[in-house]
Amino acid sequence: MTDKPKRVRTAVFPAAGLGTRFLPATKAQPKEMLPIVDKPLIQYAVEECAASGIENIIIVTGRGKNAIEDHFDQAPELERFLRDKGDTARADLVRDIGAKIHFSYTRQRDPLGLGHAVLVARELVGDEPFAVLLGDVICDGPKPATRALCDVYEETGIGAIAVEPVPRELIHLYGIVDARPATERKWGERLRQILDLVEKPDAEKAPSNLSVTGRYVLPPEIFDHLEKTKPGRGGEIQLTDGLRALAREQGLWALITEGKTYDAGDKLGFLKATVEFALKNPEFGDEFRAYLKAMEF
Ligand code: G1P
Repeated sequence: MTDKPKRVRTAVFPAAGLGTRFLPATKAQPKEMLPIVDKPLIQYAVEECAASGIENIIIVTGRGKNAIEDHFDQAPELERFLRDKGDTARADLVRDIGAKIHFSYTRQRDPLGLGHAVLVARELVGDEPFAVLLGDVICDGPKPATRALCDVYEETGIGAIAVEPVPRELIHLYGIVDARPATERKWGERLRQILDLVEKPDAEKAPSNLSVTGRYVLPPEIFDHLEKTKPGRGGEIQLTDGLRALAREQGLWALITEGKTYDAGDKLGFLKATVEFALKNPEFGDEFRAYLKAMEF
């Protein structure tokens, strides 16, 4: 028997994309900093990591992404200003944003794809299992999605990725898995063994309707596969293609996560997340609900 799998302590956030789908909003600010109600998108995924026991986050950035670093850094002038005014609650809020996690940054110099962005973090991750979170996806549910995947990895020693069923007309926007029920029964029907993955197939050719949502927990061997991955869909080095090789060589689980996933990298998904988080807001949620109800459509 091999040793017990290592605990997952590190997460990689690929955040070097140009955010073209949100132009002109993203001309001079990173997509990851667009707010859902009052928090930038990326902060939701950082909070998911903190709630999942992750200690280190490596953000793979690119040109024009400095606002992300500033956001998770201290802001002594702002904090002092708020404390001098007696606004302790907001001062604490500003101080706590990046306090629970250690952040490192590295740059993807060439936009060669998501798989390449993950590979850029190789030296910083080292020989350890790690999580990958796509910062424009928000997972909301009783248990953090990353924690659920870490549990599967830490118990089985095999990587796990989050999936969820999508309507047929959205299949072409996602990585899609071909999977069969897992022999491990602990997770019931929710855990599947991946046989294959395809990046953004046409609906007619897709092996299922289970889409890759943007949460992954992977062993370090994925880096060797990404090194060998050739450009695929869209001429980019796709993470999905690296995962395909990993699944063949040492296996990979698909976990149908509980809770709701918002693809806020898409304008409609962004609006849905905004409305739903606004409705849940303790300060003005009820008022907002009344406002929506009174609207004439
Ligand atoms: C990426 C991945 C895709 C995944 C999706 C989830 O695509 O390549 O496999 O299903 O994220 O949002 P992107 O949305 O960056 O085009």
